[in-house]
Amino acid sequence: MASFPYSYVVCNCKKVTLGEIIYAIQEKGAKTIEDVAKFTDATKACGCCKSSKDDFGDPKLQLYIEDIIKKFV
Ligand code: FES
Repeated sequence: MASFPYSYVVCNCKKVTLGEIIYAIQEKGAKTIEDVAKFTDATKACGCCKSSKDDFGDPKLQLYIEDIIKKFV
């Protein structure tokens, strides 16, 4: 996974940053995409930010919540 700043917006629809997602994982105990959604609102619009297979947009996003969970959980 490339390196992204904490301010990087992972979920464009809900304007949720990488830092907020890491906080949800490390401080609130989120372990799944559904947990991250519950704590941050990420994924609750188009859903493209969940994983590369959910990303129907063009251009594709560069970072997905699934990848963040793999790295931090
Ligand atoms: S980019 Fe996250 S719901 Fe659309």
